[in-house]
Amino acid sequence: MNARLLAVKTLAPLLCDSGALKYSLQRHLLDCPENQKPLLQQICYGSMRYYPQLICIINKLVNKPLKTKDADIQALLLIGIYQLFKLRIPEHAAISETVEICKSLNKPWATSLVNATLRNFQRKQSALVEQLLSDNSFKYNHPQWFIEKLKHNWPDQWQAILTANDLHPPLTLRTNLNKVSRETLLKKLQQQEIAAKKTEFSIYGITLEKPTDVNTLEGFSAGEFSVQDEAAQLAAQLVDPKPGETILDACSAPGGKLLHMLELSPDKTTTFKGLELEPHRAERIIENFQRVQLDCELYVGDATNREWWDGKLFDKILLDAPCSATGVIRRNPDIKLLRKSEDIHSIAKVQKAILENLWGLLKNKGRIIYATCSIFPQENEKIISSFIRDHDDARHIKIDAQWGSRREHGRQLFPSADAHDGFYYAIIEKSSD
Ligand SMILES: C[S@@+](CC[C@H](N)C(=O)[O-])C[C@H]1O[C@@H](n2cnc3c(N)ncnc32)[C@H](O)[C@@H]1O
Repeated sequence: MNARLLAVKTLAPLLCDSGALKYSLQRHLLDCPENQKPLLQQICYGSMRYYPQLICIINKLVNKPLKTKDADIQALLLIGIYQLFKLRIPEHAAISETVEICKSLNKPWATSLVNATLRNFQRKQSALVEQLLSDNSFKYNHPQWFIEKLKHNWPDQWQAILTANDLHPPLTLRTNLNKVSRETLLKKLQQQEIAAKKTEFSIYGITLEKPTDVNTLEGFSAGEFSVQDEAAQLAAQLVDPKPGETILDACSAPGGKLLHMLELSPDKTTTFKGLELEPHRAERIIENFQRVQLDCELYVGDATNREWWDGKLFDKILLDAPCSATGVIRRNPDIKLLRKSEDIHSIAKVQKAILENLWGLLKNKGRIIYATCSIFPQENEKIISSFIRDHDDARHIKIDAQWGSRREHGRQLFPSADAHDGFYYAIIEKSSD
């Protein structure tokens, strides 16, 4: 098994709309020789980050679309063009080693197709790129529907968002103030010669200058810090857990925000409960609890119904809703391939159903803190506005903050170079008076 063959195996299912890059890559990294792992990761992430451009090129060079059963050959073309277009791998190596994979895939018939396509690209690259620049999908390296939707919703910000989506995301840590102060953690990082700085908006955050394997950093296994984007770190402050309260984290896995709230409530007089739909994802929460030596009651259940509920009302509910994840494309570039325009509507329906169901589990004067990592108003402010319109007992609570931009309901953050991801937050209070 070499990196290029494993990259094809990682990406081919995604081309058939199955799975996600992160999990597919995790599986195939297990079979990868140690010295080839960086190349495997770079090829897979890069091929997805530049998917819109790579597919435009392939469509120009290959006359007949490949059949679904040949998704592996399509993946091979993607990684081949990616290496020639975006990596500094010597051309002869990129071509010959990519073409060679056809044999390992037991598809020797594809050798001439792959070879001809890659060599054609090599010859015609400048003219082809020039020609393709008139296609917005190629020019902005995003799917056409996404560009249109973004332009429509954010006429002043859309280009900056597209640019930020193509940058490498920073690695941000969240200090566990229970164990260590942010200043001490920064000093410890300095001693390990890790360049790092404080985040601007989260009082817990530290951004590392270069990506690093956190497992090798002092204090990680002892739970002194976790990896969490700065925008995600803002959730716990908005929930603001108080002694004696009972708080539900309604969509918990992998537990980043739940763990943060637990860290902020060391006296244990606040009761936390977590709810997660997917059993395998709930296991991730437990693993994360173990590292920081904290835990709470967890339900595996569906937030659109009450089958899991013990009948006790909550003071606060954090609803970190399932969403299009369009604010975190730079971390999950396969979204460019996997997310479709029509998904936004169906995701919004689920978000509404969860919000509606959870509203009934809230005490009078209780609050729902609604969050998504989406940048589309359909999943954010429009959900909140229509909820408030339809519920006489729902009152919007303004968030006073320096971060993001204020909307009629809630605040919207956009992905920002070297800083936070795209996120949305809003607070609604129940007031049956
Ligand atoms: C955005 S992620 C949550 C991230 C998490 N709050 C954190 O900070 O680590 C959304 C989670 O909601 C879960 N989910 C999706 N639909 C759900 C439902 N109907 N009920 C409960 N959980 C759901 C997903 O499996 C996913 O783990």
